Amino acid sequence: MGNHCANVYMPRPVSIIRTLPQINEHRLFQLKLEDGGDWETFGHQPGQFIEVSLFGKGEAPISISSPPTRPDSLEICVRRTGKLTDSLFELEKGSRLHIRGPYGTGFPVEKLKGNNLLLVAGGLGLAPLRSLLLYVLDRRDEFDDLILMYGTNNPDNVLFKYELLSFFDREDIKYLYSVDRDEEGIWKQYVGVVTGLFDQAILSPENTYAVLCGPPIMYRFVLQKLLEMGFSKDRIYMSLERMMKCGIGKCGHCAIGDRYCCTDGPVFNYAEIEHIKEAI
Ligand SMILES: Cc1cc2nc3c(=O)[nH]c(=O)nc-3n(C[C@H](O)[C@H](O)[C@H](O)COP(=O)(O)OP(=O)(O)OC[C@H]3O[C@@H](n4cnc5c(N)ncnc54)[C@H](O)[C@@H]3O)c2cc1C
Ligand code: FES
Repeated sequence: MGNHCANVYMPRPVSIIRTLPQINEHRLFQLKLEDGGDWETFGHQPGQFIEVSLFGKGEAPISISSPPTRPDSLEICVRRTGKLTDSLFELEKGSRLHIRGPYGTGFPVEKLKGNNLLLVAGGLGLAPLRSLLLYVLDRRDEFDDLILMYGTNNPDNVLFKYELLSFFDREDIKYLYSVDRDEEGIWKQYVGVVTGLFDQAILSPENTYAVLCGPPIMYRFVLQKLLEMGFSKDRIYMSLERMMKCGIGKCGHCAIGDRYCCTDGPVFNYAEIEHIKEAI
């Protein structure tokens, strides 16, 4: 990042190339660097995050949703929840904002290569996991079997819907999805929590890595299932979310036991955090 490293808190200007509405109160933003840099040099790994800021409105950590294999833009998927994200939703094509990063540990892509992958996402957890998913699809011959399980609370809340639908035409990914509830009876597939999808997949724990991204309740059930199936704890990775401020290991806001979520995570190996009670 050259001179940009001089002050670690110094944000870089970016502009919005496009905004794409997702489900209710969720929007995808495609970003362009405005300081002469490019996303290839930015050098993010799948699973990392950036700190996004708007002058006078604050700053928040947001996961990078696009893979480094697609350096034309950087994509973030934002849920409208508060001060900063409300203001982001008022921006249009060409508007400016600022970012810091990339921060945190990403998914260990080098370690995952040559293995089968089971990606399990719940709700907005698909946003960070998508950077790994698209990375694997772009370098498909470097990985073995790929299974994606995605669960949402109802059929209206499926993120990246059209992208996911296109996976049904592909032979190189098995995509399984579930909804917790289907009150209107329109869902043709599995209704129930995401762990119910395990019956539809053949998995070999000895040469598969499981990567999870979703709410804590999903982690509890999926972890139990994986351990019952014989997955060793060091073959399970998960991304954790905590309140953050600095994003770079200085303020202590994101502490989980003896770890900082921003610098030791957000991606953790389960074997590394199972002893930390408040982790999940
Ligand atoms: C590593 C990481 C990655 C993230 N990735 C994304 C992403 O890809 N897309 C996205 O939309 N959001 C993401 N978030 C969450 C986002 O940073 C928060 O929702 C943030 O508070 C939004 O800022 P705001 O100013 O709009 O909301 P605020 O005005 O700060 O308030 C939002 C509300 O959410 C609560 N809150 C704040 N942070 C969290 C948190 N981490 N967990 C639970 N509740 C919280 C606050 O107490 C408040 O009630 C991520 C968070 C982390 C730590
Ligand atoms: S957010 Fe400041 S130490 Fe992690």
